[in-house]
Formats: sequence, C-alpha cells, structure tokens
Amino acid sequence: MSLLEVNNVNRVLTDNNGAQVNVLQNINFDVQQSEFVSLIGPSGCGKTTLLRLISGLDRPEGGTVKVKDELVTKPDASRGYVFQHGSLFPWETIRDNIAAGLRVTQGRHFDKQLVDRYIALMGLQGFESAFPHQVSGGMAQRAALARSIIMHPELLLLDEPMGALDAFTRADIQNVIYRVWQQTKTTMILVTHDIDEAVYLSQRIIVMTPRPGQIKQIVTNPLPYPRQRTSDDFLKFRQTIQDLLDFGSHDQLVTDSKEKAK
Ligand SMILES: Nc1ncnc2c1ncn2[C@@H]1O[C@H](COP(=O)(O)OP(=O)(O)O)[C@@H](O)[C@H]1O
Ligand SMILES: [Mg+2]
Repeated sequence: MSLLEVNNVNRVLTDNNGAQVNVLQNINFDVQQSEFVSLIGPSGCGKTTLLRLISGLDRPEGGTVKVKDELVTKPDASRGYVFQHGSLFPWETIRDNIAAGLRVTQGRHFDKQLVDRYIALMGLQGFESAFPHQVSGGMAQRAALARSIIMHPELLLLDEPMGALDAFTRADIQNVIYRVWQQTKTTMILVTHDIDEAVYLSQRIIVMTPRPGQIKQIVTNPLPYPRQRTSDDFLKFRQTIQDLLDFGSHDQLVTDSKEKAK
C-alpha cells in the first residue's frame, strides 16, 4: 500500500470575474513510505493548490486524496506543512516556535531536551531566544523545518521553503533537508520551481504544466545519493527535466500558431 494516493483529483475555483477555472485536472500519483518526491512546474500550475489538498486544508471537487488508505478530509498533525515564508509565529522566540507543536501534544511539561536536540540539529544554537525577525531568512526556515520535523510527521509537505532565499542559503537548507530525510526517513513532498533543487533532492520528479494544472510526466531520478551538483550525470538529468518543462511551453506556442493559421 502506498502512503499517499492521489486519484483523479480535480480542483475547480472561481476567478475574480466569477468564471469557473479548472485549476487541477485529473491528477494521479502515489507516494511510497520514506520517498522523496518533488512537484515542479511554472508559477500558477497548481502546485500549492495540490499541496493544500494533500494536507487537508482544502477538498477537491473531484477525485480522492488518501493517506494510508484513509480519505483526507481535514488537516492532521501527522502531516507537516512548511510554507515559503511566514511559517513561524512572529511573537514567539525561535525556541518557543520549535516547541509549539510539542506544547500542544505534551502540555507544559513537554520534552525540552528534544527541543535542544533539534536546535542543535538545525545549527540554531545561540539563537534560541531571538525572535523570527531577528534571524536570517535561512535560519527562520531551519526553525520552521525543526518545528515540523520534531512532531515526526508521517508526511512532510514543503511549499517552496527555499523560494525566498539567496542561492547560497538555498543550497544550505537543501543540505539540511537532505540530512533530515536521510536520518529520519520522513516521507517528503517538495514543491519547487527550481530544477536543481528537485534533481538534487528527489527520487522522483512530478513535472506539471499549467492551465489547467496537469501532470505532464513523472520521472524517476537515476542519480545515486549524495549527489554532486556539477557532475556530468547531474547536468544531463537536469537537462531532461528542463526539456520537459520547455516542451510544455513550446507545445503551447505550436498550438497558438495553429490557432492563428486557422
Ligand atoms: N482561492 C483561489 N481562487 C481562485 N483561483 C485560485 C485560488 N487559488 C489559486 N488560484 C489559481 O489557481 C492557479 C494555481 O495556483 P497555485 O496553486 O497557487 O499555483 P502554484 O503554486 O503552482 O504557483 C492560479 O492560476 C491561481 O490564480
Ligand atoms: Mg505556490
């Protein structure tokens, strides 16, 4: 049995003019226990919409989302969600943010040593008492990851968590995510529009195309871990994904010119 099964999912939303838009159309894929899967596609292709359906924040108009064969109907602590930014409570310190979930499940006497371990794991020692606005974007995202992972989610949903960071910090957080995945074997679904990030981290890459949001292809990454970002094999596989994404827009152009020729 797959950990996650997404079957024939459709999402229909109403745009600003009151028109119905098929944001996601006929989405089908499975994710296995401990797998690392990326969803990649241009802005607006429905990645966040799909992740919200998997988390249970929204329900699809058609099709089903199942985790361990059970229909997802609402958010659940067993599914962690890290946003591009704003995952942390601005009024709490880094330490309190990391402990937020534990305070809910364990109460006042939550496991403080566990919090210390995650602070260390994420390299946040010395910043425990700082507030989110006082630390770098990279540190804030490490804290957001720690806050989710400390709860041992069976599925961690990452929505462009590196999207707002500079290239160096991005590579750094990618390595943190890689290490956490290796150590905990948490099943992860990463939304990104960064091909390098998807190729560096994932075992499979789900390539999406927009209007309506659809899956173009699901590609298995043949590269062994740990991956070398500059190796020939890396660049070659990167190009495979690039071509799939480019071909999507080329398709569109061909169709457009055919339309014009009519
Ligand atoms: N609540 C909403 N109401 C109407 N349209 C929406 C809503 N949320 C998203 N959309 C539209 O759905 C499409 C996909 O959005 P989104 O899932 O955010 O894409 P991505 O995360 O891939 O950039 C976009 O065209 C967006 O305008
Ligand atoms: Mg998005």
